Amino acid sequence: MKGKIVIVTGGNSGMGLATTVDLARRGATVIMACRSRKRGEEALAQARQQSGSGDIELMLCDLASLESIRSFVKEFTDNYSVLDILINNAGVVSVKRQLTADGFELDLGVNHLGHFLLTNLLLEPLTRAEQGRIVVVASGAYKIGALHYKDPTLSRGYNPAKAYARSKLANILFTKELAVRLKGTGVTVNCVHPGAVGTNIGVNRETGFGQSVLKLLSFFFLTPAQGADTAIYLATAPELAEVTGQYFYRRKVKELSARAENMQEAGRLWSWSEEQVGLE
Ligand SMILES: NC(=O)c1ccc[n+]([C@@H]2O[C@H](COP(=O)([O-])OP(=O)(O)OC[C@H]3O[C@@H](n4cnc5c(N)ncnc54)[C@H](OP(=O)(O)O)[C@@H]3O)[C@@H](O)[C@H]2O)c1
Repeated sequence: MKGKIVIVTGGNSGMGLATTVDLARRGATVIMACRSRKRGEEALAQARQQSGSGDIELMLCDLASLESIRSFVKEFTDNYSVLDILINNAGVVSVKRQLTADGFELDLGVNHLGHFLLTNLLLEPLTRAEQGRIVVVASGAYKIGALHYKDPTLSRGYNPAKAYARSKLANILFTKELAVRLKGTGVTVNCVHPGAVGTNIGVNRETGFGQSVLKLLSFFFLTPAQGADTAIYLATAPELAEVTGQYFYRRKVKELSARAENMQEAGRLWSWSEEQVGLE
């Protein structure tokens, strides 16, 4: 990993922080893409201390704002011409219905649309890498997800499971479609279900509201480092250099439901997402 450039979204908490520490220990330069300067700086100090590496930096990126994503990409590309690994890890589960700065339902806006724009804007530096890799942190929750094109902001009958599951189904369909579009470039994209991991997911960071159930029950769950294992494997394993478009759990390819394998749906979601974020 020496000399490799890595971006980890949501690098300040849970699995994102564990991934940052692990990859920095292996000698990579890691950019933590975080929305909060305060939480980002605290985590940066922690990551440097835990990894013993000074090659970690913080760049601000709020995935709930298209403007913030574009300015993050500008800052990154002003400083680096190559990106070896992009880890789309950041994620949110919103207890109540919220909209992003651009009017998207929050879970879909951050988990899918924000990463959709970010990834597309970073394809050029990824194709310049010796073998670029994109890792998408999805979830087994996708199984109960549906895309809700008739009511994309979930203005009727919002519930957190419906919103989160939709965003995670979108993560998988995005991975499938992107893998097809990247054929012949050498860049691979795979997604992962990390398992049930004791992190801060579900906690509102601004108010502290909603002490994470996963954290309360953390005795029964994987630690963030254990949860990050498969994402790190996808980012680093030499034997995966040509593996793309797959869904992994515990380092193994896992079968998907028919809905998540539907390439017509994947194509439709891609076109719809392009329109939403204003990409050609
Ligand atoms: N924990 C589990 O059991 C589990 C299971 C399946 C899948 N996952 C997935 O694993 C990934 C990592 O989650 P985690 O469990 O490690 O949770 P976590 O500790 O809550 O970390 C989530 C990260 O996402 C960041 N984030 C949230 N909204 C953002 C935004 N608008 N812009 C930029 N960053 C934002 C958070 O930043 P702040 O600190 O600023 O909020 C935090 O760094 C997520 O994609 C989640 O869906 C988790």
